[in-house]
Amino acid sequence: DWTMAEFRRTKIAEIRDQVGDAKVICGLSGGVDSAVAAVLIHEAIGDQLTCVFVDHGLLRSGEADQVVSLFRGHYNIPLVHRDASVLFMNGLKGVIDPEAKRKFIGKTFIDVFEDEAKRSGGADFLAQGTLYPDVIESVSLTGGTGVTIKSHHNVGGLPERMDMQLVEPLRELFKDEVRALGRELGLPEVFVGRHPFPGPGLAIRIPGEVTRERCDILRKADAIYLDEIRKAGLYDAIWQAFAVLLPVRTVGVMGDSRTYDNVCALRAVTSTDGMTADVYPFDSGFLTATATRIVNEVAGINRVVYDYTSKPPGTIEWE
Ligand code: XMP
Repeated sequence: DWTMAEFRRTKIAEIRDQVGDAKVICGLSGGVDSAVAAVLIHEAIGDQLTCVFVDHGLLRSGEADQVVSLFRGHYNIPLVHRDASVLFMNGLKGVIDPEAKRKFIGKTFIDVFEDEAKRSGGADFLAQGTLYPDVIESVSLTGGTGVTIKSHHNVGGLPERMDMQLVEPLRELFKDEVRALGRELGLPEVFVGRHPFPGPGLAIRIPGEVTRERCDILRKADAIYLDEIRKAGLYDAIWQAFAVLLPVRTVGVMGDSRTYDNVCALRAVTSTDGMTADVYPFDSGFLTATATRIVNEVAGINRVVYDYTSKPPGTIEWE
């Protein structure tokens, strides 16, 4: 891709210019954006960069391992992997309000990151994988009304607190461009093509209280759903697809016995930037087969529903 090759060269020069021989620290969330930013910056300044992966335990199945092996194995980029899941799970006890979840997760992410940054000797620059839609959504959603629809936890907070200069090489890019840049940088297709994933992770896909047990149930259902989508060859046609675990129990029957378990909702949308979205129109055979698999294979779920709401009036995530 000619444009991305050009962008890569320009940004590398800009990063070197901005940073000189100072140290940069980059927080990885497990997602594509921060990974692409880190790989690009590493190409520009090599081991002046330290990457810190704050693992909140709210990632999808297999995701943490993928990030670690990509950085340590594929690129040989030094990476501090901090498993902070206990801290996050304890703090989420009794938290039900979606904004309270976001605020707690955002704040704790910053605390853990700051702590690791200090341990690793500190840095003058802070790198973030902020994209253009992150910049405008967090401005426009509060604009005029003064009402925040959702506070995105990857923008704001960190810079002021840490008194560091920002390196944000992806600030002008949309998601599809970040993916193109990732490919240009040699990131594996399965990683680059991954659906977007929100900073607060599975916590905002579990309405009500988040517990380790609920996360595990959700992770299983989500993995089956994504497996079916991949097998049907639909993954790349969809912007985001995920399962949501509802705090609602319904009665079912399995064999000879009555069950009383949770409901799982499936969501899939098409979009170009996440600002608006249309429901993905699966055929009913696909949904039936997926629902059957989830109920049969995931203990704790006995009913599956499909979410038919576009954005607007819905949002993509449930919280
Ligand atoms: P909504 O649910 O607002 O989501 O329609 C739009 C896009 O943003 C993602 N999202 C988030 N990303 N921190 C993030 O980094 C957040 O708090 C957050 N909330 C939503 C969502 O997955 C979708 O791609």
